[in-house]
Amino acid sequence: MKISIIGAGNVGATCAMRIAQEGLGQVLLVDIAASLAKGKAADLQDARFLLKCDYHISGTSDIAEIKDSNLVIVTAGLVRKPGMAREELLSKNAGILGEIAENIARLAPEATVIVVTNPLDLMTRLVLQKTGFKRAKVFGMGISLDASRFANLIAEELDIPTAEILPCLIGSHGEGMLPLPRLTSVKGVVLDEFLNEERCARVVSRTKERGAEIVGCLGNASAYFAPSAAVLELVRAVVKDEKRTIGVSALLDGEYGIKGACIGVPCRLGKKGIEKIVELELDSEEKKALLQAAERLKEQYSLIERA
Ligand code: LAC
Repeated sequence: MKISIIGAGNVGATCAMRIAQEGLGQVLLVDIAASLAKGKAADLQDARFLLKCDYHISGTSDIAEIKDSNLVIVTAGLVRKPGMAREELLSKNAGILGEIAENIARLAPEATVIVVTNPLDLMTRLVLQKTGFKRAKVFGMGISLDASRFANLIAEELDIPTAEILPCLIGSHGEGMLPLPRLTSVKGVVLDEFLNEERCARVVSRTKERGAEIVGCLGNASAYFAPSAAVLELVRAVVKDEKRTIGVSALLDGEYGIKGACIGVPCRLGKKGIEKIVELELDSEEKKALLQAAERLKEQYSLIERA
């Protein structure tokens, strides 16, 4: 299994480490910065003896080396910094990812592609369009990270183990994120039995702001430990053909009443990529919020198309 990771920044390098250490495949780290990927790969290889784990990670600045990859993970692009305009990130990353997508289509036409670059849902749509791949083969990592954050914050609030929680969260990886307390349970009991309205609203709002909170703390980087753990979960589901249902940004074609937007919904993942889009029974308010989030994404996507 050849797994290429494009972008050797914090997220890309941490993904390489986690994926290789779990023995999921041979990892190639790619970055346009002259010898960055090579250096990080060498550093990771040096840990093999200590970890007693003979994984294989190599690094390159030449994207041609992704040839015939089975899986490509795209983490390249600028990261959010405090005070940075969203539009700036959008147009710069759209340029970078457009080019990467064309290379993936040419060099690794059979690959499954996991997009990690922000703005996540828009970049997923862009990679899907530019590769021309089937929608099952391209999806974005966003809401499984957000759901993990939601579970973590609930666990902290209730002082219980995270394993007791089954979080439910859909929507965009951004403003249109929808943590769903009504469909979230703690050992089978719905969340609002445990948390009153005020505490529940606080956890929901902290979940939505968690990414920005971490960017604010780090200053010139965004989160990468939990994001790389979320990528690992997706890679494992595909490589091991797990058929697990995990939230990813997927192109909807009528599901949830939405057409033509990539947005986070639960999907069954296996060796063919997205094997089924799972439709939750949403109430009217949840449905309305999801539709609004999708409309916003479509408007923002049209800005890329016009640029
Ligand atoms: C986050 C940003 C990077 O959620 O999307 O951490």
